[in-house]
Amino acid sequence: MSNLNTETVTSVRHWNDTLFSFTTSRDPGFRFKNGHFTMIGLEQDNGRPLLRAYSIASANHEEELEFFSIKVPDGPLTSQLQKIKPGDKIYVSRKPTGTLVADHLLPGKRLWLLSTGTGLAPFLSIIKDPEIYERFDQVILTHGVRFVSELAYQDMIQDELPNNEFFGDMIQGKLKYYPTVTREPFRNQGRLTNLMDSGKIFEDLGLPQPNLEEDRFMLCGSPAMLKDLTNLLDGWGFRESRGGHIHEYVIERAFVEK
Ligand code: A2P
Repeated sequence: MSNLNTETVTSVRHWNDTLFSFTTSRDPGFRFKNGHFTMIGLEQDNGRPLLRAYSIASANHEEELEFFSIKVPDGPLTSQLQKIKPGDKIYVSRKPTGTLVADHLLPGKRLWLLSTGTGLAPFLSIIKDPEIYERFDQVILTHGVRFVSELAYQDMIQDELPNNEFFGDMIQGKLKYYPTVTREPFRNQGRLTNLMDSGKIFEDLGLPQPNLEEDRFMLCGSPAMLKDLTNLLDGWGFRESRGGHIHEYVIERAFVEK
């Protein structure tokens, strides 16, 4: 098919029974904005591709592409995708798109990246974008999960990025990471909605209650998470950017049920 590139899997990492990541080659002509998603998939026995939307977890300045996926036992795509190995072929659509891009937000002081589950993926791309740190004084990445084993990419976020030889200095002091777990003990516990509603997350981070002048948000998670968080933000007076109007927050669905 003309709108699909065929890429080669270069590495696979299984985080636990339910989550895995993989990297692939990247066509030199494949361009995207950090935060975008694209369709990816595998060829079926009937010769046709089975595709699903995936956020690109690598940044646009990186040589390879990276994706972060759940494993759904009877999911049409992920039941096969979770078995991929280095050397396997995968389709990647040449038309990345999406709304989680910094251009869709008004200028501000703090950028909140609010994610649950695999909704973390687009933010992994965004936190590696030097422009983000030029636009915002602080970037706060939250990741809400059920179990500690689902806190993927902790080492990259906490250790590798702040020590990156090119932009580590820029990231240190600007990027804050707030993982939270709901179904077993951890240093931060509870749903993001409750942590924001109660103000606990702001106290923990030593940051003020968000205000319309300074705070901007990007949201990526399940439909239920997006509904509850947008209700909360709307209640505080924040507005979603849409239809060409640029406001204080943007959302993207986490493409669940693969
Ligand atoms: P909980 O364990 O209380 O359901 P999921 O895997 O279902 O997408 O959940 C990922 C994380 O998001 C879990 O910690 C879950 O908490 C949390 N979560 C689920 N629904 C919501 C919601 N409506 N608002 C905020 N967080 C949510």
